[in-house]
Amino acid sequence: MFQNDINILAIETSCDETAASVVRNGREIRSNIISSQIELHKLYGGVVPEIASRKHIEKINQVIKEALTVAGVTLDDIDAIGVTYGPGLVGALLVGVAEAKAISFATKKPLIGVHHIEGHISANYIENQELEPPFLSLVVSGGHSHLVIVEDYGKYQIVGRTRDDAAGEAFDKVARAIGLGYPGGPKIDKLSKEGNSQAIQFPRAHIEGSPYDFSFSGLKSAVLNYINSMKMKNEEINKADVAASFQEAVVDVLVTRTIMAAKDFGISKVAIAGGVAANSALQNAMSKACKENIIEFYYPSPIYCTDNAAMIGVAAYYEYINEKYSGLDLNAVPNLKIGER
Ligand code: KG4
Ligand code: ZN
Repeated sequence: MFQNDINILAIETSCDETAASVVRNGREIRSNIISSQIELHKLYGGVVPEIASRKHIEKINQVIKEALTVAGVTLDDIDAIGVTYGPGLVGALLVGVAEAKAISFATKKPLIGVHHIEGHISANYIENQELEPPFLSLVVSGGHSHLVIVEDYGKYQIVGRTRDDAAGEAFDKVARAIGLGYPGGPKIDKLSKEGNSQAIQFPRAHIEGSPYDFSFSGLKSAVLNYINSMKMKNEEINKADVAASFQEAVVDVLVTRTIMAAKDFGISKVAIAGGVAANSALQNAMSKACKENIIEFYYPSPIYCTDNAAMIGVAAYYEYINEKYSGLDLNAVPNLKIGER
């Protein structure tokens, strides 16, 4: 470790992962500890907010300790503490925010509140050291579906968003309907490989006057209606075909909107982010479409697509070097808008 290395301790507790990471000089991940609550929430078919908060408070100190140990540092070596302060579940966010504030207060090191979606986008910097703004990012997770122009570090312009369900939410609901369990995205991804994506024609929604916006609730209803109508006819559904055809409809919409926005705004780099960015069909289709349109394509490894603290540490670093610190009155903001401070 050099004297002038910048080490950020980052904390993420916005949903159902208790996570801490040490990030050196913005893009070097020294540790990335994730304590997932998935097994716990599986029992209920989705995230139960109060259970999530309680689990975070139980795990947070242990996870941070491990992040420091694995990185081979102590709090003395840390230059700033980054923490997700929104959007997310308020009780879950509060655990991370209170913890980060306590560490900042005790160590007198700067506190940096990070927007969760800015974190997801920043995950792309980890394995693509050459990637720099400007680029277009498609952020697709359980709670968000946004098309964002990353104009510079910390400078974002939203050009498209979902009007109803997030892409990941649609994956989870359809998975539940065909009996795959929670979280549905990875299960649909896997099962689709055995199915025919052209078997059932599900709708692709277009929103009049908002060419870059998404809508997934109609698609979700179409899948549910299909399952019900098959049941009424006493016919077996082919789960793999339903999964593959649904996934194809989501991927088709995500890819066409993204490529259209990139071309319209004259952007030659596309980076996908968020849990759904781990989807193999989305990665393949986006990669192909980008190649055809001479656009550079970036995506993170699955571990950096779903919630983690390393991505929060990367985003916090760029705030740190611009001295954009938060006060000790930092609060959790469950519906925080991107680019807002
Ligand atoms: O980013 P994330 O971990 O949490 C949020 O910020 O929401 O995203 C979780 C979402 C879930 O809806 C999950 O089903 C979905 O990402 N997901 C996937 C895949 N892996 C996770 N969706 C499709 N294909 C995948 N391979
Ligand atoms: Zn997330």
